[in-house]
Amino acid sequence: STDTHTSPQQLAALAQTIARTAGARILELRAAGVTVAATKSSIVDMVTEADRACEQLIVEALREARPDDGILGEEGTGIEGTSGITWVLDPIDGTTNYLYDLPAYAVSIAATVEDPTAFADGRRGIAAAVYSPRSDEMFDAWQGGGARRNGEPIRISGNLDLATSLIGTGFGYTVERKLEQLELLQRVLPRVRDIRRIGSAAYDLCMTAAGRLDAFYEKGLQPWDYAGAALIAVEAGAEIVGLDEATPPGEPLMFVGHPEIVRTLRDVVLGRE
Ligand code: IPD
Ligand code: CA
Ligand code: CA
Ligand code: CA
Repeated sequence: STDTHTSPQQLAALAQTIARTAGARILELRAAGVTVAATKSSIVDMVTEADRACEQLIVEALREARPDDGILGEEGTGIEGTSGITWVLDPIDGTTNYLYDLPAYAVSIAATVEDPTAFADGRRGIAAAVYSPRSDEMFDAWQGGGARRNGEPIRISGNLDLATSLIGTGFGYTVERKLEQLELLQRVLPRVRDIRRIGSAAYDLCMTAAGRLDAFYEKGLQPWDYAGAALIAVEAGAEIVGLDEATPPGEPLMFVGHPEIVRTLRDVVLGRE
């Protein structure tokens, strides 16, 4: 049964507290120097000690505050819960930027509930925090409560013209995935103002939520990349669609933007118009 003693707003407050602590730790570790600890799906898919240490820090904080909840983390955490709530977290979204000391990376922490239709992974965020420590930007949202950047309400872009839209996207780590993404990019780039590949899907989604990108799409995202920031985008007015109306958004593909532009973007990216 879903825990009824804690409101989504309180879960969002908890996520923010932990994300801020993790963000501070990430900066400390960066200052001490970063090296690649291991690679995952390919030689360009890196993990650092900071990714692992921050996942540990977040998991310990969540275990202490919410011992009955499940936890799913990018760096290997998989804890079954009994409360109905599962935390989905990415300790550092934008590891390549972190390694190169480029500022766009973020901690993403989301409280999710089961929902077979909302996203491809069968879960949906009800409260979330995405914290970008280098820009000291805290994005948060809870279901029905709107979205904020550093406590101030944010709203998606009102630009409904794809030709003058700035579009965020991202690429994966395997050659096969990159070639697929190149095909999508080739269709969309000539049809829009420009493309941004900022390097952190969670941050891209927050930028879309704040109207600093007009829309976003990506193929191959994992639950921890989008669990938090997708809720933030939706609460800021975005609609999120998948490959087609029957396919929930998520790993296969995700398009995020104003409800009146998001399907046009999909048609262009998929070569349907
Ligand atoms: C990656 C980033 C990137 C996106 C990749 C993700 P990571 O996450 O979000 O922007 O294009 O698909 O895997 O590995 O830096 O946490
Ligand atoms: Ca990663
Ligand atoms: Ca990620
Ligand atoms: Ca990560």
